[in-house]
Amino acid sequence: MWIKEIKLNNFRNYEKETIELNDGINVFYGENAQGKTNIIEAIYLCALGKSFRTSRDSEMIKLNDLSTEEQNNMVKAYTNSATVSIDFQRVDRDGNIKITISNKKQAFVNGVKAKKLSELLSNLNIVIFTPDDIRILKGGPENRRKFLNVLIGQLKPNYIFLLNNYSKILEQRNKYLKQIKEEGKPEEMLEIWDEKLVEYGTQICKYRTEFIEKIKNKLGKVHEEITDNREKIEIKYISECHDKENYKKILKNRRKLDIIRGYTSKGIHRDDFKMNIDGKSIEAYGSQGQHRTAVLSLKLSELAVVSDEIGEAPVLLLDDFMSELDQQRVHNFLKKIEGVQVIITCTEKIKLEKNKILIYNVNDGKINKNI
Ligand SMILES: Nc1ncnc2c1ncn2[C@@H]1O[C@H](COP(=O)(O)OP(=O)(O)OP(=O)(O)O)[C@@H](O)[C@H]1O
Ligand SMILES: [Mg+2]
Repeated sequence: MWIKEIKLNNFRNYEKETIELNDGINVFYGENAQGKTNIIEAIYLCALGKSFRTSRDSEMIKLNDLSTEEQNNMVKAYTNSATVSIDFQRVDRDGNIKITISNKKQAFVNGVKAKKLSELLSNLNIVIFTPDDIRILKGGPENRRKFLNVLIGQLKPNYIFLLNNYSKILEQRNKYLKQIKEEGKPEEMLEIWDEKLVEYGTQICKYRTEFIEKIKNKLGKVHEEITDNREKIEIKYISECHDKENYKKILKNRRKLDIIRGYTSKGIHRDDFKMNIDGKSIEAYGSQGQHRTAVLSLKLSELAVVSDEIGEAPVLLLDDFMSELDQQRVHNFLKKIEGVQVIITCTEKIKLEKNKILIYNVNDGKINKNI
């Protein structure tokens, strides 16, 4: 699939911009703070209904440049609303996604207002690679769960439904744990929440196990290619929540501790996955370069898994790509990727011998072709 056109209105530092893309490689280059990542963010917003760098939607609405006098008078700095509209083409259909952000966020799929943001999913499929993704391996387990949630959520709307329900129940359970401690409420009532947590949790765990397996099937070969057969990589999902009875038992065993702490200390919200290179944990023993290549392999595996699932390639977004790899590796990498629309941002103009390549310069919220 590929994105044909992006329209931005009062989005971040863009006032009004229409960007046409091709189905091959699209490069956005420019100096720092010009609006390159903002384009990636706009695409992500249309694919997943939210930003990957803020949870406050209003930040995406263009701020007006205020005069000192206006600043002194505390004039409202926001314009009224931001809009992103994307025309895309899939093998079997074309379509449009539009998101408007004002005091609330609304999504339109082919002109029809979506009742829920989750209706957006499965229209525009993306795989994104940003410098922050190194956190998937180096950071805490919440980064790895987010990786899985974004991957699976795009493909299985039911997964988002399960996650939302799980979060709600978890919140209620945690609130009740505090009430047991502070107000002496009966402990047995926790059973109700435990039952539901286990119900949703085991289903989430099943999806994650299935997708880790799919990634695993791609990862070995991808990583061998990247490292010229020098390294063997492994991935393993770590959870205690596969089995309902076991999950219930764990919650019960932890009950006293959970009441003291006031939160639920076990469950799929604590799950993780581990990656090893040649039998050693990357997290503990990996070099900087190994971390980077492992994340790249993980992302390429994600691309392959999503392609299998939807029957065509998703759009690949590479933010600040050159900061991760040198020119030669970028060349090798892009040569290997065929039949995928790639949208790259970088600070230096990339020279590539490819037919389908569009190059744009990004300068202070303005996009100029072929400079
Ligand atoms: N709501 C907003 N209104 C106006 N300008 C904004 C808004 N949000 C961000 N910006 C501006 O957008 C610019 C940052 O855009 P972006 O993150 O896309 O930069 P970039 O080109 O990717 O830079 P880098 O190379 O450093 O990653 C900054 O100048 C910032 O002030
Ligand atoms: Mg950037």
